[in-house]
Amino acid sequence: MTTEDHWATVAQLSDLAEGEVLGVELGDKQIALYNVGGTIHATDNICTHAFALLSDGWLDGDVIECPLHAGRFNVCTGKALGPPVEQDIPVFAVRVVGNDIQVKAG
Ligand code: FES
Repeated sequence: MTTEDHWATVAQLSDLAEGEVLGVELGDKQIALYNVGGTIHATDNICTHAFALLSDGWLDGDVIECPLHAGRFNVCTGKALGPPVEQDIPVFAVRVVGNDIQVKAG
């Protein structure tokens, strides 16, 4: 992991095919990366309902379904899409530089 101007490289674009989700760590944060139609999005990886990693769930378009109780979030906005999840998931600024997927640190 390298940092430059608060952007941290957390994965390689070649490791995240379209329609896939990937869990990465940045410091003490767990982050889920999503490839939605070639655009990368990043959210907190830990579901806001209980403890489950969204990167173990299922990505359908721009919606991630939690593997534990099937809560769903929009991965672009972080919006919780209905019970059992009530609290939105934090989203992170993300950019692609060459083959590097970078998340805004801090
Ligand atoms: S832990 Fe994600 S929906 Fe319950």
